[in-house]
Amino acid sequence: MRKNIVVANWKMNLVRSDALILVHEVLSNKADNISVNVVFAPSYPYIYKVAKLCEINDNFSVSAQDCSSRKQGAHTGEVSAEMIASCGAEYVILGHSERRIKFNESNEQIKHKIDNALENNLKVIFCCGESLQQRDSELHFDWVEEQIKESIFHLSKDQVKCVTLAYEPIWAIGTGKTASTVQAQDMHHFIRNLFEKKYDNDVSDNLSILYGGSCNPNNASQLFSQNDIDGGLIGGASLHSDKFLAIINSF
Ligand code: PGA
Repeated sequence: MRKNIVVANWKMNLVRSDALILVHEVLSNKADNISVNVVFAPSYPYIYKVAKLCEINDNFSVSAQDCSSRKQGAHTGEVSAEMIASCGAEYVILGHSERRIKFNESNEQIKHKIDNALENNLKVIFCCGESLQQRDSELHFDWVEEQIKESIFHLSKDQVKCVTLAYEPIWAIGTGKTASTVQAQDMHHFIRNLFEKKYDNDVSDNLSILYGGSCNPNNASQLFSQNDIDGGLIGGASLHSDKFLAIINSF
């Protein structure tokens, strides 16, 4: 059975005290009867504390927003997958378009990060998605396929079971424009088929594929009701407990 997952990608927002209040409000107000895994992705300095707070509920866990492509050593400012795991995180988000664009991350570099994460028993939330120009030129399926092939498809069947996909059209991130349910479902279905062809039914059926890009309390339930959409990677709306709870509770 594939999991429903909602991830709060806080990006470079929230000071520590506000972050902890937000976690507390979400933990204490999530409806008990909703079966969804909730993942907070705070900045590195709060991972340990947020992970501690999440220990009281099996459905809550923590993700880093990135990790180094290096394993350890003289790389000032870098944070390794091993360090992140040692602070109690269960996941790491890799390949977010903001990192691909602002920090020039290539598919090859993301592949190394994925390998480091899996070696350290972190689960990976792998982001992929096209620009508006690529969609307008009808290159979106080819582009997403290439991102997945070049960063993920070297993994074994056992390894790939530790990967969650997040389809995030770049033109929908932080813009208030959401992909239509048809656009999102079509891409998710395409991605699931790629995994079926490369691996098998067992892998593709169990793969959670999240949608990201201006997901909010008004559009979440319609998106999540699609056959191949198993949750969301939420940016802006995850910074407010009422909005984030409404998204979680829309399952
Ligand atoms: P958004 O961000 O919800 O603010 O569009 C999503 C993301 O970048 O993960």
